Amino acid sequence: MSIAFLNGAFLPLQDASVPVMDRGFLFGDGVYEVIPVYAGKLFRLDQHLKRLGNSLAAIRIENPLSSADWQSMLNELVSRNAEPDQAVYLQVTRGVAAKRDHAFPPDCKPTVFAMSAAMPPPADIDKISGATAVTFPDIRWKLCNIKAITLLPNVMLRQQAIDAGAAEAILIREGYAVEGAASNLFIVKDGMLITPPNSPTLLPGVTRDLIIELAANHAVAFREADISEAELFSADEIWLSSSTREISPVTLLDETVISHGKPGPVWKHMISLYQDCKSAIRRGEAD
Ligand code: PDD
Repeated sequence: MSIAFLNGAFLPLQDASVPVMDRGFLFGDGVYEVIPVYAGKLFRLDQHLKRLGNSLAAIRIENPLSSADWQSMLNELVSRNAEPDQAVYLQVTRGVAAKRDHAFPPDCKPTVFAMSAAMPPPADIDKISGATAVTFPDIRWKLCNIKAITLLPNVMLRQQAIDAGAAEAILIREGYAVEGAASNLFIVKDGMLITPPNSPTLLPGVTRDLIIELAANHAVAFREADISEAELFSADEIWLSSSTREISPVTLLDETVISHGKPGPVWKHMISLYQDCKSAIRRGEAD
């Protein structure tokens, strides 16, 4: 039985419910995080909590919990759900209002919800053959750096990708590839790893930051730079990164074969560094 957390109490997920007047339900007025758990340990928790704080500040919701309280609540949630590897989802909305009004209601108490699902182990590195992605115009709003629960464009784009037989949509804004529908974007060109710089056009991904950190620590040539649509299609490698999909190599983009149709050498190097980080957290030697 899956255990969730709602407004101060742990309870079975199927018993967790919020009033229909919650502004998350009526307006999508809230923010969220997804945090991977390996061997019962929350991966990169500080970074996720920092981004949560930034998202809350951006939409003017006071953070309802201190960092220490988030940490103890999430650790308890993880231990109440038995699986060693989990994906924790947490969401904060502006709360329940007396009437539907776009403007912030006075004295609204944020709704705090968290749940956790078992995360299946990712495929063996040697068995990863590469994913298909498709490009679509970025139809989202102008504040994509906020991890908002208002995800209708992302939902539509991911579904369009699946309808086209692909795993992810890569979004093009004003001629530049910014990120995936639920992932960050990297390319490799002539040995150089490139990702677009953080800006309101994309989410500052925690996995993205870890890849940058690993590149710096292991002498992988790296720079942050805008990626034009033409550069995307002529890349030697394309990767998509996220907390749940880790680092996924793209080997077919629309009709174009990337990296000779198989994961490239720079990806192989990076995914093994990434797996080392996961092993370290499993042994309790890192966060
Ligand atoms: N999404 N960009 C977007 C638009 C995302 O939704 C996500 C993650 C990322 C990658 O961020 P991170 O490395 O911190 O997971 C980039 C999560 C997994 C989701 O919505 O389920």
